Amino acid sequence: KKLAVFASGTGSNFIAIQEAIEQGTLDATIALVVSDVPTSAVIEKAKKKGLKTFVFNPQSYSDKEAFETEIVEALSEAKVDWVILAGYMRLVGPTLLSAYEGKIVNIHPSLLPSFKGLDAIGQAFDAGVKITGVTIHFVDEGMDTGRIIAQEAVTVKNSSTRVALQKDIQAVEHRLYPETINYLLQQ
Ligand code: GRF
Repeated sequence: KKLAVFASGTGSNFIAIQEAIEQGTLDATIALVVSDVPTSAVIEKAKKKGLKTFVFNPQSYSDKEAFETEIVEALSEAKVDWVILAGYMRLVGPTLLSAYEGKIVNIHPSLLPSFKGLDAIGQAFDAGVKITGVTIHFVDEGMDTGRIIAQEAVTVKNSSTRVALQKDIQAVEHRLYPETINYLLQQ
């Protein structure tokens, strides 16, 4: 199956997915890497891996429908089957949702429905919870609201700092996302 990975920033989950593919634990290919941030590290990383990219600047479009129409064209040209959001910092709109109904997934660094939205790790840290985690879910029109596919808990150690918690959560993300995508593709 062909995946498109959407990301706005660092791209560590993108790398984890690509490495799982290279190691043969995820039976798929990344046909396109999509980013709304032309200067993002993820695009650098995708180019280094020799992957096709689609980069756009949302400010050059009149609205979301306009750029999502182009995204859908690029996805269909690359024959993409699944859309994998990995740090894509935007809500998906009706144009993309209807083109890839039931085929868009996201990863969020908390145990949803707790700590939706921005800086979920900071939110959990500030709330003082002792357990947080990672959620992989289908994407709908809401923010971090779609049906849950997989979750894994991460313990917040008493001595933990925000940075250490982020590291622990990312380690889980980098294992759980490729694993869960592989499971989904086999359904
Ligand atoms: C991850 O923590 C993911 O859960 C969230 O955004 C972050 C992306 O990190 N949605 P990266 O760009 O994959 O390093």
